[in-house]
Amino acid sequence: MITTPRAAVAVAVDVSVSAALAVPVNGMRLLDLFCCAGGAAVGYRLAGFEVTGVDIRPQPRYPFTFVQADALEVLGDPVFLAGFDAVHASPTCQRKARVTAWRGNRDDHPDTLSPTLRALEHLSVPWVVENVPEAADQLTPDYLLCGTQFGLRVRRHRIFQVGNWSSYSLLPPCRCYRNRDLVPFGHKHERAFADAMGCTWMTNIEGRQAIPPAYTRHIGNALAHALTERKVA
Ligand SMILES: C[S@@+](CC[C@H](N)C(=O)[O-])C[C@H]1O[C@@H](n2cnc3c(N)ncnc32)[C@H](O)[C@@H]1O
Repeated sequence: MITTPRAAVAVAVDVSVSAALAVPVNGMRLLDLFCCAGGAAVGYRLAGFEVTGVDIRPQPRYPFTFVQADALEVLGDPVFLAGFDAVHASPTCQRKARVTAWRGNRDDHPDTLSPTLRALEHLSVPWVVENVPEAADQLTPDYLLCGTQFGLRVRRHRIFQVGNWSSYSLLPPCRCYRNRDLVPFGHKHERAFADAMGCTWMTNIEGRQAIPPAYTRHIGNALAHALTERKVA
């Protein structure tokens, strides 16, 4: 069941979140599915979108309007979807990620990516879906982003597939290979790694799942441009 949206909570003490909240809105609404604590969300907000997050679990640190619900149920609700200009989805990656095998078994995790991709294909609005590179057997890697392309001291490769729109923009090259200046990934360094991603308002555990806001700020700027051009045409 889709519950009543919870208004944005006051996590604005954080620098990244308060910077995002200070950006003027562009009049476009983005639905952020599988939102967790809002790494992707903060990037889209920095690009000017009004963001609403959906997660199956409570997300007390999500900085914007939040709805606790099953994202797959939301994707099947045309009335709810009609309120948005674009959709982003970050389905769980544990079933694909190589690191899951360090601590457990990938088969113990549900496949949320396949049903999400099937549902996104039916949307008429622009959409974006992201996951770990290991998911490239299912998801078309239209774009592969790394923290080093945004001046972040992290190697965090994520692939993005887009639907109903596309963009062309050059970024600085990825510089993570043989780069000794990066924050190491792993349990001992979780806090430093989350902070280096720009996810300073999250807990370490939330940071494990997050993407750096810089990625979706970049994508969000291109998406806002594409949506604006569509409105003008
Ligand atoms: C990879 S994390 C999302 C990370 C987020 N995009 C970020 O950048 O911070 C995936 C999230 O999906 C949520 N989730 C799992 N199954 C779900 C479902 N069926 N519907 C909605 N959320 C779900 C998990 O609770 C988790 O918070």
